Amino acid sequence: MPSMKAAIIGFGTVGEGVYKIVNEKKEQLKKQTGYTIEIAAVLVKDVTKKRDLSPDIVVTDAFEDILNTPDIDIIFEAIVGEEPAYTYLSQAIEKGIHIITANKKMFAKHGPALLKHAEFRNVHVGYEATVAGGVPIIRTVENLLAGDRIKRIQGIVNGTSNFILTDMRKEGVSFKTALQDAKARGFAEADPTDDVSGGDAFYKLMILSSLAFGNQPEWKKVSVVGIDHIQADDIVEATNADFRYRHVADIRKNEDGSITGKVGPVLLEPDHPLYNIDGVDNAVIIETEYLGALTLIGPGAGMYPTGSAMVADLLHIIRQQATELILN
Ligand code: NDP
Ligand code: HSE
Repeated sequence: MPSMKAAIIGFGTVGEGVYKIVNEKKEQLKKQTGYTIEIAAVLVKDVTKKRDLSPDIVVTDAFEDILNTPDIDIIFEAIVGEEPAYTYLSQAIEKGIHIITANKKMFAKHGPALLKHAEFRNVHVGYEATVAGGVPIIRTVENLLAGDRIKRIQGIVNGTSNFILTDMRKEGVSFKTALQDAKARGFAEADPTDDVSGGDAFYKLMILSSLAFGNQPEWKKVSVVGIDHIQADDIVEATNADFRYRHVADIRKNEDGSITGKVGPVLLEPDHPLYNIDGVDNAVIIETEYLGALTLIGPGAGMYPTGSAMVADLLHIIRQQATELILN
């Protein structure tokens, strides 16, 4: 059985999720792909931290070690922020290595360049995990684009915000307590500023815009508001009036070809499709010319949901490669 060698860069919530799934589902992946998937190397910041990793895996804090590991076919990227992630992934592509990323902050800005570079070098890029965690929104939009036209995408795309807004409906739960809980469960980023200020949802919206509309609106023209100003009293008042706060990201292509987007909390009535989306779940409504409206709902963050989205990308890339081999 041929093997495929992979490296994971970033071994926190998401990187560890990928590692666990690849190991737990080794046999299933072998059957589905025809390959034994071997994790050969892991990149972290602090090599002295104790990690639950097989002893034959190279653990390093130098990206060159990853690039110099012989025969790496694919890199899973789950570090934080624009750099050094963008530089690392560009170097990987240049070396002919496929990449799969969960890093939405990096991909919102550099995704189009990485995709172009990858096409030129004939490698593949998976980015399902950058938007809505385990919800297969990227693949769904790609499929719809084959024979339809997307008009608008709106939804809850930050799990932490939704978790906090849900938890704060319980008596005595403050914003601070709910955020601490979201952190402990691996939903919130180590620095949760982007989660609660709307930045994280904004990055995801820009990724969706590039994919659905081939372009992004000018970033400064998108209004971005978070949930950090919402007090427990606001939640009680809304609940008593049968409303719910939801943090909603919304992007649409207008008749004149322009793209407009906004991100922020909204008060929803019980008949709204996002009213009942609780906890860490995300929900995305895609409006198209032919299909009408389609809603995807599922866990928007966390180790296993996000890891599974990255492993699904791996499967997709292997299948794409197989198709290319047949066609060429
Ligand atoms: P964590 O903070 O849990 O883990 C980050 C990992 O990256 C750590 O292992 C850290 O090393 C390593 N790291 C950070 N910076 C560097 C660097 N410069 N060089 C080498 N290693 C580095 O983050 P998450 O796993 O939660 O998130 C990872 C990425 O996935 C982020 O971009 C995030 O936005 C995205 N994401 C997160 C989701 C989630 O549910 N948590 C869901 C979807 C996407 P060390 O362990 O030594 O500190
Ligand atoms: N911190 C992010 C969230 C992780 O809460 O949605 C998933 O992208």
